[in-house]
Amino acid sequence: MIKAKTVYICQSCAHESLRWLGQCPKCGSWNSLVETVAMVGRSRAGGSSVITKLQSALDVKAEEARRVSTAIEEFDRVLGGGMVPGQVILLAGDPGIGKSTLITQIAREFGSKKVLYVCGEESPQQIKLRIKRVSYNGANLYFLNETSADAVVDALEQGDQFSLIIVDSIQTITTSQLAGAAGSVGQVRESAAVLSSAAKRLNIPLILIGHVTKEGAVAGPKVLEHMVDTVLYLEGDSQHMFRMLRTVKNRFGPTNEVGIFEMTEKGMEQVNDPSKLFLSERLEAASGSCVTVVMEGFRPILFEIQALTTRTTFGYPVRTTSGFNVNRLKVLIAILEKRCGLNLGTHDVFVNVAGGFKISEYAADLAVCLAVASSLKEKPVGSKVLAFGECGLSGEIRRVAHEEKRIKEAKKLGFDSVISPSSVKSIKEAVEKI
Ligand code: TYD
Ligand code: MG
Repeated sequence: MIKAKTVYICQSCAHESLRWLGQCPKCGSWNSLVETVAMVGRSRAGGSSVITKLQSALDVKAEEARRVSTAIEEFDRVLGGGMVPGQVILLAGDPGIGKSTLITQIAREFGSKKVLYVCGEESPQQIKLRIKRVSYNGANLYFLNETSADAVVDALEQGDQFSLIIVDSIQTITTSQLAGAAGSVGQVRESAAVLSSAAKRLNIPLILIGHVTKEGAVAGPKVLEHMVDTVLYLEGDSQHMFRMLRTVKNRFGPTNEVGIFEMTEKGMEQVNDPSKLFLSERLEAASGSCVTVVMEGFRPILFEIQALTTRTTFGYPVRTTSGFNVNRLKVLIAILEKRCGLNLGTHDVFVNVAGGFKISEYAADLAVCLAVASSLKEKPVGSKVLAFGECGLSGEIRRVAHEEKRIKEAKKLGFDSVISPSSVKSIKEAVEKI
């Protein structure tokens, strides 16, 4: 194959260079030059021989895309009801979080339809071991032990009808057009472009797996986000077994949806009632604990906020959080001190979201305040009490969205009191008994 002409282009000022440089000579930014296939320009003056066809918007039919269900409900949910033929999905996440496991389970659900698995990262033997763990014999799975994007396209065009293409991972794939190493920004971007144009042409859904990487020479999924139809992030931490699948971008459905899984011995299991899972280990009469409800996409999920206050033994009081923004905690402590007269200046405050989950919604403010106050006063909030609402700097509690959904979820899980700034009318409408 003839190598295409490549140039190095600065990503911040578009300066072109024929060789790689550590620093852009024009704008001075470091590590910003990325190898790119040079475009052969078409001269305007000479007139173009290509006839440009315009299409009227009235002639374009708006058809709902035919969706392929993956039979994994939580996965379908984040996609907006299943995959669309030709859809390019980027599944990103930290190494070891369970991307390959989830993807093999999706292949299993394809039944007799053929799935192409491009394994750049592991050998087919390693994958076979994993798929045995998720009780899957791999009858419809075809491995391609290749790291060249062009070879994948060749394999696709050989006439085998695949229903799904999996590329594990995009950071190992290269294209012969560029000279850079696998995983460099140029290679990742160009290989993804080659693969997705093939998937679109053949109308097959394509899942690209990408590792989230620290900023550096190796390209993370960020560089791909604008090129694909759907971006999914698989999150969770190594201390806990549950995983969240989030949609960050979706051209074929809603964003902000979440799917919840639990990593088990037999692969990723769907969690149908997450609130129950997150509250399962709660000590009911403990002080310093308050339950709140947070919206994850369109789903309300209950979480327990735990707080511990202890007298500061030396110098400056400590504020430590896990799963909650520490700066937000400092604001809430200031509100509690100034507006509620709690003396927290001589106490260390620790706040933890039980279960290892991260909460970013301000709706949890009130529960955090109550948990801190409860720990300081050593009085339990009550095991059947739930609180949500945003705290303002004047000490007021502000309303948050989706009150009705939140209250209903609380009721479903057996809570009989809700502390929230909702208007009396909406509470009445939502749930009379609370
Ligand atoms: P993996 O899917 O290989 O992660 P990724 O592709 O995102 O790098 O999953 C790796 C971890 O999952 C590994 O530590 C083993 C664990 N695991 C289970 O706990 N149960 C299982 O059934 C499987 C297949 C893996
Ligand atoms: Mg993997």
